[in-house]
Amino acid sequence: MKIAIIGSGGREHALADKIADCKSLDELFIIPGNPGTRKLGKNIRISPDDHEAILRFCLEHGIELVVIGPEKPLAEGLADILRKNGINVFGPSKQAAKIEGEKSFAKKLMKEFGIPTAGFEIFDKNNYDMAIKYLHKISYPTVIKADGIAAGKGVIIAEDLEDAKEAIKECFINSSFGTAGDKIVIEEFMTGQEASVFAITDGTEFILLPAAQDHKRIYDGDKGKNTGGMGAYAPTPFVSEKDYELISQKIVEPTLRGMREKGTPFVGCLYCGLMMTNQGPKVVEYNCRFGDPETQVVLPLLDGDFLELLYSSACGKLSKSVIYNNGASVCVVAASGGYPDKYLSGFEIYGLEKKNDFVKIYHAGTKEIDGKIMTNGGRVLNITSIIRNNDLKEAKRIAYNALNKINFEGIQYRKDISDKALI
Ligand code: AMP
Ligand code: GLY
Repeated sequence: MKIAIIGSGGREHALADKIADCKSLDELFIIPGNPGTRKLGKNIRISPDDHEAILRFCLEHGIELVVIGPEKPLAEGLADILRKNGINVFGPSKQAAKIEGEKSFAKKLMKEFGIPTAGFEIFDKNNYDMAIKYLHKISYPTVIKADGIAAGKGVIIAEDLEDAKEAIKECFINSSFGTAGDKIVIEEFMTGQEASVFAITDGTEFILLPAAQDHKRIYDGDKGKNTGGMGAYAPTPFVSEKDYELISQKIVEPTLRGMREKGTPFVGCLYCGLMMTNQGPKVVEYNCRFGDPETQVVLPLLDGDFLELLYSSACGKLSKSVIYNNGASVCVVAASGGYPDKYLSGFEIYGLEKKNDFVKIYHAGTKEIDGKIMTNGGRVLNITSIIRNNDLKEAKRIAYNALNKINFEGIQYRKDISDKALI
């Protein structure tokens, strides 16, 4: 099979790595890819924003499956254009991608189909006074979310009424989140451990992959600003066998049914961001794609034919061709100094060649110049350990050992990835 992966981050490197191992693969293209994916297939210099050029490339090269990594091309309808031209796509249509891009859409869907999530109300810019009135009726902390995609910054946890009023002002009056904040969701604050569960689906049938836990904040102990993710591990012990059943029955099945009934069936990877509360798993958010960096720790835990899983899902006849291999994986993100605020790029990365069988180094923000690998982004590398037994402590040790051999100017990383599971 000839496959094209769209994207250039650590998630896409991990996808390429897994697909490159599959027997049915003939040729792999990554559009545009990164210096890591170049070793696994051909990087093609086309921007993920240039849908016409991607379509032309796929038609000219007889691509049989396109796997779309990031949310932006999905939200902008890349899957629709490709499908209209007869190309199989792993990833949802523009309409179905709203499950991530419009929080109010997702919340209404959950309410209508009885899917467990935080209680909520939706307000738009014209209801400023009503939103303020509502703030007087609720308990604190509360959560205020911009409706649209706000680069991971659109969620405000308000400790008290004053905080909440300020947050609403930021959205409606100061337009701090642009048009993404013209509508807001005010929701109940939930407590518990967070987990990310991927459901791979053809729109009806689905399979759950092992649950991961992300680390979104920049500093140890979940302190500091939110980032794109500073590390992850899988499987997480906070999701039990019983929880997987509940997630299947009470969350994924009704979500997919709801999407079908709305005429926008969801095909691809439904990412369920969950809070494991003492009343069971509840949805914090959905994403319409594989998570980053969770993908880096989930895919290595799958035995079987991963490409068959993606292809069969894209073709509407899911084949549950993978199983959990009883392993464990820890991924630590090495980031540029200053990230998630301003940072410098262009520093040479040392120590990349010193690897062993239990370590994969996925490239996220790198660039090759004259044969040297340089930093080229906020999140630079994903140092990932993979072992065949479920021993997170050992997986953590191996990941940090590997990380110690790597260096670039300003390198920063969290030292506590997976610790929540180890205490
Ligand atoms: P989101 O962008 O919706 O994933 O939210 C970002 C982060 O905010 C989540 O990973 C949670 O840590 C936190 N969060 C969002 N919604 C809630 C909620 N209702 N209760 C508690 N924490 C939340
Ligand atoms: N790790 C969070 C995300 O992919 O959105």
